[in-house]
Formats: sequence, C-alpha cells, structure tokens
Amino acid sequence: MSSRSPVNVGLIGCGSMGSELARTVSRGNAGNARIVGLFDEYVPGRAALADELTSDAHPRPTETDTVADLINIDSLDLVIECASQVAAAAHIESVIDAGISMLVMSSGAMIDPEFMRSISAAADRNRASIYIPSGAVGGIDALRASKSLLEEVTIVSTKKPISLTGAPGFAEWENKEISESTVIFEGCASEAVPLFPANVNVAATVSMAGLGPDRTRVRVVADPDSPGNVHEINASSRAGKFSFRFENIPHETNPKTSFLAVLAAVETLRSICEPSLRIGT
Ligand SMILES: NC(=O)c1ccc[n+]([C@@H]2O[C@H](COP(=O)([O-])OP(=O)(O)OC[C@H]3O[C@@H](n4cnc5c(N)ncnc54)[C@H](O)[C@@H]3O)[C@@H](O)[C@H]2O)c1
Repeated sequence: MSSRSPVNVGLIGCGSMGSELARTVSRGNAGNARIVGLFDEYVPGRAALADELTSDAHPRPTETDTVADLINIDSLDLVIECASQVAAAAHIESVIDAGISMLVMSSGAMIDPEFMRSISAAADRNRASIYIPSGAVGGIDALRASKSLLEEVTIVSTKKPISLTGAPGFAEWENKEISESTVIFEGCASEAVPLFPANVNVAATVSMAGLGPDRTRVRVVADPDSPGNVHEINASSRAGKFSFRFENIPHETNPKTSFLAVLAAVETLRSICEPSLRIGT
C-alpha cells in the first residue's frame, strides 16, 4: 500500500473505456486513486456509473454538467479523458490551465504538432502533465528511443467492417458488403485521424512517438475474417528494424475499442499513483 495521498480523478466519458477504468479504480486495482467526479454529455450513462461506484466504502462521485465544474472539484489531481477527440480537444486547455494534469485516451486530438507544442508549454507553465498511454498497441517505447534514427514507420490496422461503421472514411462502404480483406484507406497519419476518429488513435500515438503525423504511413483494412482489432507496426531505423503485431480482443460493449487500450489506461494511472518505479519508459 502506498504512503502517498490518493490521486483524485475526474473522468470525462463514462462509456466502455471510462466505465471499465472506473470499476478497476474502485476495486483498488489501479494504484491509490479514487474517482471523485464524472462528466459525460449522456446523463443516464453517467448516472448509472455513479450508482455503480457508490458503496459504503466509496462515496458517490460528483456528477457535473460541465468540465468547468469538474475542474472545480476540491483537490482534483487528474482528469482522465475517455470520451472522443472532440472532447479532448475542447477541454485539454482549460484542464491544463487550471494546473490539473490530464490523461488523454483520444490521442488523435493531439496529432497537430503545433497544438501539441502549445499544450506542452502550457503544462510546463502550470506544473501539470499530459499523459498519453500506449493504448491499443505497444512498442511506443522503442519508437521513442530510436526517434532520431527512424527512417520509415508504417501502421496497418485491420478490423471487422462493423468496427469501422460511422467513420467518415468508411462512408462509401457503409452499405456495401465486404466479403474479403479490403484496403479502405492508405495515406499518412494526419489524413487518417480525421477520417477514422474512433479507430486510429493508435496511428496518432505511433506518429507522436516516432516520425510525426505527415511521415507515419497508415493503412486501414476491413476484413470480415479479422481475428479482432489487429494493429501491425513496422519501423526501420539506423538502430534496427522493428515489427510489432497486436491481435486485440475488442471491448465487449464497443467493438471499435480494444480491451488492451483499457488496460493501458489503467497501467498509466497506476504509474501516476506510484511514480517511484518506472519500467520500460
Ligand atoms: N489511444 C487508444 O489506443 C485508444 C483505443 C481505444 C479507444 N480510444 C478512444 O478512447 C475514447 C473512449 O472510447 P470508448 O470505447 O469508451 O468510447 P464510448 O463510445 O464507449 O464512450 C464514450 C463516452 O464519451 C461520451 N462523450 C463523447 N463525446 C463527448 C463530449 N464531447 N462531451 C462529453 N461526453 C462525451 C459519450 O457519451 C460516451 O458515453 C474514444 O475517443 C476512442 O476512440 C483510444
């Protein structure tokens, strides 16, 4: 048990990932953290999660109607965003300006290097931190370590067609039957992220760790026989060639989200709660 004070968390987004993360926190399996506030534009979902988290051992988290109210919760240490790129982009500045750190799961919101530079500078000024978990992939540490020596990075994301529905980049395929592996998109990460906002946050994270959004190549493939949400990263560098393959099980309530991404969020929170030992960073 840590002798540090608990990390007080405000959650933006009470959907698949946010709910799972909050349950893990309330079971005590994400370090010495506690969920003290919830914000979600879908009020019934937010209220259901608040009910679920409330017990004799855990006071009911405060539900807020705005992020401004969430930030104002007494002794808030960290905001965790598990909502959408729109929500992350809209709220990160106000959270950081309030001197509160933020863990961002919708990493596509941070893909513009200019925006990232300005938010990082604000975090520095306000003594806050921005955490971007590895999400649905791994190998981010190796890309970061070899950043200055990287020559080429490609990420291929293969999903069942149902996991791509609703994405602007999938619009022309929505009513077509896809019976075999089909390339839906090929381009760079900065083009992929707005076209597949709920699908290629991994491409944003890979690009931030490595060659940047314009030089990171992305392919999105729809395959009815895909064994899950599969991400393959290939990198060549003057430090060597790296290949990573992730065959992820989709989250049971949201097939767009991989269960590994939830685990990565939990692990990042645990490392925030227990900063004295870092492995692989
Ligand atoms: N970094 C990664 O590798 C990775 C992996 C998987 C998912 N994600 C991202 O994490 C986020 C959460 O995923 P999820 O599976 O929990 O999604 P979800 O759709 O199950 O839940 C999202 C919740 O956020 C709420 N929400 C959305 N926009 C909002 C806004 N502007 N203001 C307030 N509430 C808002 C919704 O009402 C919903 O309850 C998504 O953006 C997803 O793309 C990232």
